[in-house]
Parts: sequence; C-alpha cells; structure tokens
Amino acid sequence: MSVEKWIIGTGFSRGIGYELAKILKDNNYKIVHMGRKRSEFEDVFVWWDLLNPISDSPFPELSKSIYGKAIVGFIHCAGVMPILQVSETNRMEKHLFWQSQAEAMRINYFSCAEIIEDILPFIMSHTDNGSQNPPFVAHLSSLSAVDPFPNLELYGATKSACLLYFKWLSYRFAFDELNCLSIHPGTVHTDMVSNVISNESSDLEVVKKYKELINNNEMLTPQAAAENIYKFLFIDIKARESAHGKLYLSDKATVYK
Ligand SMILES: NC(=O)c1ccc[n+]([C@@H]2O[C@H](COP(=O)([O-])OP(=O)(O)OC[C@H]3O[C@@H](n4cnc5c(N)ncnc54)[C@H](OP(=O)(O)O)[C@@H]3O)[C@@H](O)[C@H]2O)c1
Repeated sequence: MSVEKWIIGTGFSRGIGYELAKILKDNNYKIVHMGRKRSEFEDVFVWWDLLNPISDSPFPELSKSIYGKAIVGFIHCAGVMPILQVSETNRMEKHLFWQSQAEAMRINYFSCAEIIEDILPFIMSHTDNGSQNPPFVAHLSSLSAVDPFPNLELYGATKSACLLYFKWLSYRFAFDELNCLSIHPGTVHTDMVSNVISNESSDLEVVKKYKELINNNEMLTPQAAAENIYKFLFIDIKARESAHGKLYLSDKATVYK
C-alpha cells in the first residue's frame, strides 16, 4: 500500500498558491492548509490569520492534524504587498503606511519562520514518506529580496528578511536533512499585481512596468508559475540541491547569482 504524502502550506486560497494546491491534489498529495479561507483542495484546514501573534497560534490544533503523518514539505505561499507610497504631510496616511509595512513583515516573514520552527520536529521525525528525496521547507520569495524594482524596496525588505532566515536554516541543516528553498516565481498576474495597478498612483515606475508586461502579454499566469514551482520541488531534484539556502528563480529555472 502506498504511503500518503502530506504537504503543509499557507496561501492556497488564491493566486499562485491556489494553482499549486490544485497541481498537488492532481498528483495525489494530501494537503494541510493554514489560512483564513479554504481552497477547494485541502484535506485538513486549520484556520489562522497570519497577522495574529504567535501567542494566538493554532499550533495545538495543527500538531494534532500532522502528528504521525508522512510530511514531504512545507511551503509558505501567503504574502502581501504593503502600501508603496508614503505621504510626507498627512499623519494618518503616514501611520497607515507604516502599519501596512509592519503587517507585510509579519505575514511575509515572521509567520513563515514561526510556523517552520513549530513544525520542524514533525518534518524531521522521518516518518517514512516513501520518498527518496529530503524533506523541504520553502517560501515564495521575490527578486525584490536582492534587487528590488523601483517602488518595491520595502516589500523587498520583507522578502530579504525571509531569505536570510532561510539562509540561516540552510546552515543549521544540510541539504539531505532539510532542503531550505526560497523561490521567486517571476512576475505573475494575480490579485497582488492587480491591486497595485488599481490602488497605487499610475505615475509609479512599478505600475507602469506591470501595465507594460500585461499589455505585451509578458506576465506569467498563476497556472504557469505554479507548474514551474511544482517541477522544481518535485521533479528537478538536482536543482533543489543547488538552490539550498539560495534564491531560486523558477521562471528562469536557475539559481540567482
Ligand atoms: N504575483 C507576483 O508577481 C509575485 C512575484 C514575486 C513573489 N510573489 C509572492 O508569491 C506569493 C503569492 O503571491 P500571489 O501573487 O499569489 O498573491 P495573492 O493572489 O494576493 O494571494 C495571496 C495569498 O496570501 C494569503 N494571505 C494574505 N494575507 C493573509 C493573512 N493575513 N492570513 C492568511 N493568509 C493570508 C491570501 O489569503 P486570503 O485569501 O485569506 O487573503 C492568499 O492566499 C506572495 O508571497 C508574493 O509575495 C508574487
């Protein structure tokens, strides 16, 4: 009898994560999804607003759900783009700007690190998952973590923080113990991009760039981005080894140098 292989993840309700969960389901993986809204693909749903502090963590519920399961990996697909422009004069707008930076830091970095540190013992327990490959932890990073496009510097700061956390993890664990992966999916036409176009000033460089990519049909679909990520995580295992602790550009199938 084949062993059930489990993936734990966030951000499966929309965008790239939703499409990835669909592919995982099609390939017979079982899914534990932590988030605010269900996707249609999870086998276990643990409600958690990633903005909540660790003291409110649903860890007892999560640990009951994953105890004894063969966990293949964890992937943090959840993420937000903070407000991009700060008002120099309006105190209320300034306050909202910095609140949005703090929330982005929590969702894009702290919540990911907190979940990983909590579930590490379960992932490392080596419950036979029938896989030849080492277990992995991964997050959807961004090129902005290392080389931000104008206006994406502070969003990039949240992704840099998480990238450095993954680098630190890769020093704690060798590739064949726990493969630590930061994945830039490319520029992908999801709600995140649409919201920047509709909520931010049309004068911003990034808004112009997003519109240009869409007009030229050069922006990835969430389905195409998810297929690249699936290939990297589950098929192209050699690439996984070389990406341990580094930033992997899944749209170009190469490690960032
Ligand atoms: N799109 C791009 O071009 C691009 C490029 C580079 C990197 N990325 C990264 O890829 C990841 C996915 O992006 P996307 O474009 O697919 O974004 P998206 O369509 O906006 O989806 C964001 C996901 O994050 C979840 N999320 C946000 N806030 C949450 C919270 N407080 N608690 C729980 N879940 C929360 C959302 O769940 P709800 O439905 O509950 O809101 C949703 O599932 C992000 O980390 C993003 O930074 C995207």
